[in-house]
Amino acid sequence: MKQQQSTDMASVHSYIDQHKTQSMETLIEFLRIPSISSLQEHAADMARAADFVVQQLRESQMEHVKLIHNGTIPMVYADWLHAPGKPTILLYGHYDVQPVDPIEEWTTPPFEPTERDNKLYARGATDDKGQLFAMMEAVKSIMDIQGSLPVNVRFLIEGEEEFGGVAIEKYVKEHHDEIPCDAVLIADTHMLGMGMPSIVYGVRGILYTEIVARGADHDLHSGTYGGVAPNPLHSLALILANLKGADGQISIPGLEELAYPVTKEERGWWKRYPVSDEQRLRYETGISVFPGEQKYSLTERMTARATLEVHGFIGGFQQEGAKTVIPAEARVKVSLRLVPGQTPENVLPLLEKRVQELTPAGVSVEVRYLHGGLGMVVDVHNPFIEAASKALSDEYQHETYYLREGGSIPIAALFSSYLHVPIVFAGYGLPDERLHAPDEHFNIPNFYHAIHGTVRYLENVASLSK
Ligand code: BES
Ligand code: MN
Ligand code: MN
Repeated sequence: MKQQQSTDMASVHSYIDQHKTQSMETLIEFLRIPSISSLQEHAADMARAADFVVQQLRESQMEHVKLIHNGTIPMVYADWLHAPGKPTILLYGHYDVQPVDPIEEWTTPPFEPTERDNKLYARGATDDKGQLFAMMEAVKSIMDIQGSLPVNVRFLIEGEEEFGGVAIEKYVKEHHDEIPCDAVLIADTHMLGMGMPSIVYGVRGILYTEIVARGADHDLHSGTYGGVAPNPLHSLALILANLKGADGQISIPGLEELAYPVTKEERGWWKRYPVSDEQRLRYETGISVFPGEQKYSLTERMTARATLEVHGFIGGFQQEGAKTVIPAEARVKVSLRLVPGQTPENVLPLLEKRVQELTPAGVSVEVRYLHGGLGMVVDVHNPFIEAASKALSDEYQHETYYLREGGSIPIAALFSSYLHVPIVFAGYGLPDERLHAPDEHFNIPNFYHAIHGTVRYLENVASLSK
């Protein structure tokens, strides 16, 4: 029986190899749909992308394939539950993508997928359509060859991830008992480097705010009133400079105390990485000085420390040339990345309190919550993660690394607390694939590795007891 099964899987793997061109063509079709969730004018494209996913899952002989309208953009659900006694894996990904600005910096247009140097360039190529599609192709390949799967699967695919939408959050909170499973598989992270398969064991949380400052009741002439009038723009600059100083230290009392400490085990994993963070960062970003908390390693600062970043200033005179005005209002977008222990709920009041303390006389300041999400660290000592680690190391013929990720996948923590199952982050992106930026791309060999790797994972999981 065991023999039989691995023979069958061998035919699935060769089928995947024979169907590379077709898989690539279908991925390109998916990537052509400009599914930018945060822009209202793409609402029809979001519907098209959801339909594409539905169509694909139907062709894979999944059942109960449906759109779930639970927010502004539909989720896609499907399942196949005919492997009695076998575990059930919930597969998660997102079909929405980030906006493309600045468009002029793309070498080829973001929604005209183009192959160069074994990389496929398109918005969403690595984050997350390429990785999501690979997961769907894996399941389809097994179904095409065997007509059944070695385990039970459910797909839950969302279209609001990139703007921090709450549809899936609401769904998981209200309907978690309708999607029982034994583990969640997420392909939306990256590996340490080419040929270095990785399991992500932690992601950061996020608290995104807009800080609004108001001074006089209308804009003022800076000659007439300069020297006596409060300036909201300058006030925000002062507040920001004090929230995080030149030494990179965040000055929000109580924040640090909330963080769970980094464990010895993870420090051990970090030491084994064969690439130097410094070299990697120089190569990926072109920067060679790394401001921030100098007493922590680059790895720790990028993944296991809270951050505070400023994303945009709005206010005053923004055009060419000069205008002598003291603006009545100014706004700034500020987010914090959070580590486990810190949550949007427990950090927001600390931030508000600190901002009020730092507000200069004469202006009033308000901290508006835009969105938030929880971070998490998973316990890697469980069979579902070990099965993934083995699938990856077999696929790449290389040991699997354990990484913590600086980015956020807020739904992961909710899956964990509502479904009470292990979260397996097995991602196939590379750190330099320019996600969220111009010239986003996905390494083509990794696309195929992702298909094979997912098949291997499902195969490994089949031998686990429920
Ligand atoms: N796939 C990313 C998360 C990620 C980033 C994983 C970097 C690995 C490396 C995800 O699509 C994303 O961009 N998340 C947002 C979440 C936010 C909008 C709530 C992020 O991290 O900014
Ligand atoms: Mn993503
Ligand atoms: Mn993203």
